[in-house]
Amino acid sequence: MSEIQAPLATGVACGKVILFGEHAVVYGQPAIAVPLNAVQSRATVTRNEPGQGFRIVLPEIEREFHFLSHDEGPENGLIHTARLVFEKFTPGIIEHDLIVSLSSDIPQKSGFGSGAAVSTAIARALSSYLGHPLVGEDLNSIVYDVEKMHHGTPSGIDNTVIAYERPLYFVKDQSREFISIGAPIHLLVVGVEHSTPTKVTVSDVRFLNERHPRRMRRIFNRIGRIAREARVAIEDGNVEILGPLMVDNQRLLKKMTVSDEVLDKLCLTALKAGAMGAKLSGGGRGGNIIALVNPDKIEGVSQALLENGAIRVLHTTLGL
Ligand code: PMV
Repeated sequence: MSEIQAPLATGVACGKVILFGEHAVVYGQPAIAVPLNAVQSRATVTRNEPGQGFRIVLPEIEREFHFLSHDEGPENGLIHTARLVFEKFTPGIIEHDLIVSLSSDIPQKSGFGSGAAVSTAIARALSSYLGHPLVGEDLNSIVYDVEKMHHGTPSGIDNTVIAYERPLYFVKDQSREFISIGAPIHLLVVGVEHSTPTKVTVSDVRFLNERHPRRMRRIFNRIGRIAREARVAIEDGNVEILGPLMVDNQRLLKKMTVSDEVLDKLCLTALKAGAMGAKLSGGGRGGNIIALVNPDKIEGVSQALLENGAIRVLHTTLGL
């Protein structure tokens, strides 16, 4: 390991949670996602020894990646991000003598968009170092490109909410609108031990949709209505309407087979302990649930969740 140097540039990115509309968003329905600032990825650029080329190091898990490295197959998402940034700003030159050190407290495979967050942090750090800090659509399109490596056909919701860091109402391939939050929303973001890769649940839903297209279309349409109603409620500050909408969305996710016993039990636990609403968030079959709470219930609901199988409860307030 080289000696500690002052960073040449840094880039930070937040996580995200989906409030409404996961899975149905893949089939053209709207979804709502918000940035999750309670967790972050951070990339720091320092100089490498002359002639030593470019590498990305992950001190927390003692791994590192180089251009043209064979240990990770053809290319991994971290290196791919760097390559896209270099190709954009220094075409033809990708062998810079640099080290990007990456740290992240965003749990992986948990529906927090950790893949999009590390790409965003790397792209922000490297582009700042190169004197062209990436923002807006330039940043978003690079992160989306990397997302496609991870997920095949992602809807684009993760990269958009993380690259822009704003609450988002999103319709795949059609529109994305940043929304305002009319009154503070207190959410508990609740992790469980197990997780299922998003591409597995997405592909199971695709299979169900091929076998039962009419039934699935009804479910997707109903989720779309929920997301539209939720958007209005969020913007108008009608927080109490969101609880029943979350419960309804969870019921439909269950029908889609992307919930499981642990997630169902935690949603019920949250409601019994006084949450206004609860549902899974993200790809499902593990990962996270979210619960909507009044401030006076935060402690009681968190406690009940931790006693019933949650491994982590984060409190986040939207709209403050
Ligand atoms: O598991 P996450 O948080 O990356 O969310 C996946 C959301 C899906 O709607 C299931 C898939 C997608 O690409 O939008």
